Amino acid sequence: MVERMLKPMSSPLIVIYPGSFDPLTNGHLDVIARGAKLADELVIAVLRNSSKPDPLFSVEEREEMLREATTHLPNISVAAFDGLLVDFARARGAQAVLRGIRAISDYEYELQMAMMNRKLEPSIETLFLMPAEKYTYVSSRLIKSVAKLGGDVSELVPPNVLARLKDRSRRA
Ligand code: PNS
Repeated sequence: MVERMLKPMSSPLIVIYPGSFDPLTNGHLDVIARGAKLADELVIAVLRNSSKPDPLFSVEEREEMLREATTHLPNISVAAFDGLLVDFARARGAQAVLRGIRAISDYEYELQMAMMNRKLEPSIETLFLMPAEKYTYVSSRLIKSVAKLGGDVSELVPPNVLARLKDRSRRA
């Protein structure tokens, strides 16, 4: 049982952790573990209709990798979503959205998204958590480009993601 660290409320605290997760990194996992300690239920939400070009993994593969890597956390679920994040959050009865911030460079984009989401749905808060220092430079984009060129990313992604990255490189 993961103990709730925030002040207990009458209704369970449901938090959405949205992203592309192409692929999941140890930085994401670090934020997930921290979020799982604060929320009663943490829903990891993979964006389906992303404008990012050429995904490496399908949404289904990304969901599977997330599920495999979070089996040790009892209050986690994984889902895919389309359209507006606030609509998905509302449909799930969530009170908050969780985002990880690695460096100041993330802040501007995150602030814009948080403010737009607040404009669209004022009752949903955005919570920011920082991953461990050792992951502050890790991004899915860098992982993909380094792995594609044969670089060692074994300390930066969970083993199941590493295996899939290797498999993808072999087949490319
Ligand atoms: O991991 P990412 O790619 O930085 O995640 C971005 C994500 C999925 C959080 C963002 O693109 C999103 O919420 N998309 C859904 C569309 C939406 O709600 N847009 C309005 C808020 S800016």
